[in-house]
Amino acid sequence: MQARRPRAGGHTGDMNKLGRDGSPQRMALAQLPTPLEFADRLTDAWGGPRVWIKRDDLTGFGLSGNKVRKLEYHVAAAKAAGCDTLVTCGAVQSNHCRATAIVAARAGLNALLLLRSSRGMAPDEVVGNHFLQRLAGAEVRFVDRDGWNRRAELMEAMADELADAGRSGWIMPAGASDRLGVASFEAALWELDDQADAAGLRSDRAVTVWHASSSGGTTAGLAMGAASSGRDWTIVGSSVGETRAELHEVVDELLVESGSADAPYEILDEYVGLGYGKTTDEELAVQVQATRLTGQVWDPTYTGKALYALKREIDAGRFAADDHVVFWHTGGGFAAFAHDYSAVL
Ligand SMILES: Cc1ncc(COP(=O)(O)O)c(C=O)c1O
Repeated sequence: MQARRPRAGGHTGDMNKLGRDGSPQRMALAQLPTPLEFADRLTDAWGGPRVWIKRDDLTGFGLSGNKVRKLEYHVAAAKAAGCDTLVTCGAVQSNHCRATAIVAARAGLNALLLLRSSRGMAPDEVVGNHFLQRLAGAEVRFVDRDGWNRRAELMEAMADELADAGRSGWIMPAGASDRLGVASFEAALWELDDQADAAGLRSDRAVTVWHASSSGGTTAGLAMGAASSGRDWTIVGSSVGETRAELHEVVDELLVESGSADAPYEILDEYVGLGYGKTTDEELAVQVQATRLTGQVWDPTYTGKALYALKREIDAGRFAADDHVVFWHTGGGFAAFAHDYSAVL
């Protein structure tokens, strides 16, 4: 396939113009490029491949994590369409909803969030990502699992309410995983591709890009970027809740929509464990160990689970000692402040 490289790293700084290469509009929000770091002590301790970390936890502070890349494109599109409110959905501790709330404050927009919670009610404690959603002034509505299953319809109704009040909503699906979100992660893979040599990541063999996968946009975008890259990247998404079949369906659909149906990737669902947002003491112990070997903070729902999956696959002999793995740190650290670590600390 002919390489079609989006702009890597830089911003136009002008949200109302198309990129010179015709790529979607993008508003500068994230600190890019994020660093690519070699995790020397973790590599030694885990005794497997050479592990690198792509630090998307450093895209910003409140605005940290993979969702900021997706929101750069969504906010530009919302502004260009004349919308005044970002409408989206996620779990109460959703990083995407937190980033949306913060981005709205930054861009002079409102945020209206549909949040899934147990019993469809406000949580007892306003902590972690939910604290930041509220701090940034987002309007929040709660739904239980039944309401969540009707989230598309409910968000449409919320946008209709806004229209009745003379306002205008920009609806984003969970995780901002649609064509715009995918485009942002295609660009992210190119960013990694551009920085690998300078960082000293050189290999004659395929380099694995390991990440947590949930709404599929990150996996689809990385797969697209890898397919049009000159280097040999293997994209592996470790599911944090969905079955392999469910996630494949979502990612395949995103790839078809994005015009890259054949981009290869792999999904693992062996390490979903107790399910979305639920964590075993064994998983937590690996996450704590990894913090003490890298100085980095993981969240138990996404990055921590994917890291645990990587450790188990290393232990199972998936990699040779001279293989390279890039663990994409997709952020999410605020959720650690809403989790009970007492069993392992
Ligand atoms: C911290 C973190 N990592 C990874 C993911 C997964 O990304 P995606 O939804 O694009 O699959 C999410 C999504 O919610 C997230 O918040």
